[in-house]
Amino acid sequence: MTSETSVSEPVLEVRDLVKHYPLTRGIVLRKQVGSVRAVDGVDFTLGRGEALGLVGESGCGKSTVARLLCHLEKPTAGTIRFKGEDVTRLSGRALKSVRRSVQMVFQDPYTSLNPRMTVGDIVGEPYEIHPEVAPKGERRRKVRELLDVVGLDPDFVNRYPHQFSGGQRQRIGIARALALRPEVIVADEPVSALDVSVQAQVVNLLERLQAEFGLSYVFIAHDLSVVRHISDRVAVMYLGRIVETGTDTEIYEHPTHPYTQALLSAVPVPDPEARSRRERIILSGDVPSPANVPSGCRFRTRCFKARERCAREVPELAVPEEFRDAAGPVAHPSACLFAAERRVVPQGNGPG
Ligand SMILES: Nc1ncnc2c1ncn2[C@@H]1O[C@H](COP(=O)(O)OP(=O)(O)OP(=O)(O)O)[C@@H](O)[C@H]1O
Ligand code: SF4
Ligand SMILES: [Mg+2]
Repeated sequence: MTSETSVSEPVLEVRDLVKHYPLTRGIVLRKQVGSVRAVDGVDFTLGRGEALGLVGESGCGKSTVARLLCHLEKPTAGTIRFKGEDVTRLSGRALKSVRRSVQMVFQDPYTSLNPRMTVGDIVGEPYEIHPEVAPKGERRRKVRELLDVVGLDPDFVNRYPHQFSGGQRQRIGIARALALRPEVIVADEPVSALDVSVQAQVVNLLERLQAEFGLSYVFIAHDLSVVRHISDRVAVMYLGRIVETGTDTEIYEHPTHPYTQALLSAVPVPDPEARSRRERIILSGDVPSPANVPSGCRFRTRCFKARERCAREVPELAVPEEFRDAAGPVAHPSACLFAAERRVVPQGNGPG
């Protein structure tokens, strides 16, 4: 059984999602000379009450996926189903209603809050767009409740963002995201701008809220170690596509895609003995531009396992044929033509 088929009661079903931006030249005529393939065929399912970690290097398309999920942008192609309904082509009132149910928590708590608004106005602002959720007379009380829920003093309503620490500001952002009682929260690197000591507190808060309100999360991060604690499943993204997806055990203990193996080899290991046994995989070259995606497997220009076939064939995200009858944790989707082969770490990539 793959981790995709094991998702019960899907809230979000994303199929072949594409977002291409036109690449233009010339200031006046702005002639289109190509496309930036920011998101280039993404599939995943998010179950009710589940947390999906979406991980990949800078520029791989994570924030673009986040904006598409929250309907802040329209996809070029593909579908996003919310509780079974295709919401990608909705507009007007129907779109407004779906937008309410999927809310975003942003990366940078310093720039995502308006410095000239009080905390009360920031957290209560969504009610201006959706007055049906809280009539005017009730808003103040609701905002105070939300501050309490995220661990802030309700009397902070009249303060301004600059009077708070980074962690507190992220709590304000979370309170605001909760105001409309969403079912899904898309958290785009919610802890990467925070001190390490504060990161765990914010992750713990998100976990508590998930249980309390039955929320589902798409939790985005650069680093596999950040999402491990909170995610039920993880999707690893490279250059606009998901290259491997699975449960915690499948991804962290039995990765089959060379890119996931490389990302994991860079995760800090506290135990010195385990560290000395570990093989460090150093990826060669730079991430290619999404305006110039390599033929065949898009990871091939940096892959330590690449061979001639990789330039010709596009690997599908699927359980490798060799593992299809296996019940163990290796049997999860991986977009590598040679996923079933034992990992061979190249020369020069020794323990580290
Ligand atoms: N509006 C846009 N117009 C053109 N290109 C864009 C636009 N938005 C994003 N891109 C490009 O799409 C690619 C993916 O960007 P995105 O911000 O989704 O990546 P990311 O994975 O969130 O990166 P980071 O980890 O740095 O936040 C990048 O190459 C980016 O430059
Ligand atoms: S298909 Fe080839 S290039 Fe792509 S990840 Fe697998 S071995 Fe590497
Ligand atoms: Mg981003």
